[in-house]
Amino acid sequence: MKILVIGGGGREHAIVKKLKENPAVTALYCLPGNGGIARDAVCVNISATDLEGILAFARAQNIDYAVVTPDDPLALGAVDLLEAAGIPCFGPRKNAAVIEASKVFAKELMKRYGIPTARYETFEDLEAALAYVETAPLPTVVKADGLALGKGVLIAQTREEARAAVRAMLADRRFGKSGERIVIEEFLEGPEISVLSFTDGRTLVPMVSSMDHKRIGEGDTGLNTGGMGTVAPNPYYTPEVARRCMEEIFLPTIRAMAAEGRPFKGCLYFGLMLTKDGPKVIEYNCRFGDPETQVVLPLLKTDLLTVMQAVTAGRLADCPVEFDTGAAACVIMASRGYPEHYEKGYPITIPDELTDAVYVAGAKEQNGQLVTSGGRVLGVTATAPDLQAALDLAYARVASIHFDNAYYRRDIGKRALAAKEN
Ligand code: AMP
Ligand code: GLY
Repeated sequence: MKILVIGGGGREHAIVKKLKENPAVTALYCLPGNGGIARDAVCVNISATDLEGILAFARAQNIDYAVVTPDDPLALGAVDLLEAAGIPCFGPRKNAAVIEASKVFAKELMKRYGIPTARYETFEDLEAALAYVETAPLPTVVKADGLALGKGVLIAQTREEARAAVRAMLADRRFGKSGERIVIEEFLEGPEISVLSFTDGRTLVPMVSSMDHKRIGEGDTGLNTGGMGTVAPNPYYTPEVARRCMEEIFLPTIRAMAAEGRPFKGCLYFGLMLTKDGPKVIEYNCRFGDPETQVVLPLLKTDLLTVMQAVTAGRLADCPVEFDTGAAACVIMASRGYPEHYEKGYPITIPDELTDAVYVAGAKEQNGQLVTSGGRVLGVTATAPDLQAALDLAYARVASIHFDNAYYRRDIGKRALAAKEN
């Protein structure tokens, strides 16, 4: 089988490595991929949002199956386009990807179907939004409706910050079209849990739960990033919480999407907060999380391609999906200065025996040498019977990898370990 993966980060590297385990895969392509993925798949420099380019490539190579991973091609309708050309795909169609692409859509869906989430109001009008934040409880959360590279959420501690956030989106158009509509919502408190799931629109199989570390600094301080590390499973996701999530959130969501004529097929990611009133939805993503995938897939025991094809065929109910009962950890090695300004082009040395444990996010090949090319450079992972052992091994691996100006958090998993002890 000839397989095509769309995307080019650490998450796609984890997917590519897992797909490669299936002996039926005779050719594996990644568009655009990156310098690290190029060691596991044929990478071709076609952008993940160049839908016509992707379709032309898929036709020319006689691709049998495509996996569309990032949010933007999904929101643009990459799956619809490939399916129309007779190429089966993993990923939601455009009308279902809207669950991530529009926060207003997601919030209205949850309200209509009684799915627990933060209370909210939506606004397009600047004056109405400004009037609302004068009386809204603080802190208050201001979100751009559309995709904003994870930067469209501002948590305002004061009225002044709330006004500034509203103006940045509705007056200054800081997020362009994505911020033409905004959601202002209640601030929720509690531990966050990521749950990725496989769903064919009727059956939903949660993957092992995980915990992201979004802030750049140790102790969860500083700017938000794309994610500085992950652990799985998430200790707050107890069997009781899992049961409530399934009954109150997961199944109601896929039933709601089906009822709206937008059946969701692919990986549906639930960003949850465990509040004192129970689990609530912070966000939906229409795709695998990054860097959650880098800890979830190493624990998947079932063949990934088999599960994906069952999703596409609507036969997930007949496909057993098994996860290892151990733990996994991923530490992101970034370029110092990220998520703001940073230098690129530093040579990376990875001991040969670690190539399977390293997912490359931002590196390119230059004269046969891997060099840094992005903010998040590598995801260094380990699996072990328990979390402490997985973290120890991941950090030992980090210590043996080198590039100039490398930065990583030393406290990945610390909160999860503390939670386990309580
Ligand atoms: P989102 O892009 O919606 O996932 O938001 C990014 C991050 O902002 C989340 O992971 C949370 O840490 C935080 N956040 C979003 N919404 C809320 C909320 N209603 N209350 C508290 N924190 C939030
Ligand atoms: N790690 C968060 C995300 O993928 O959106």
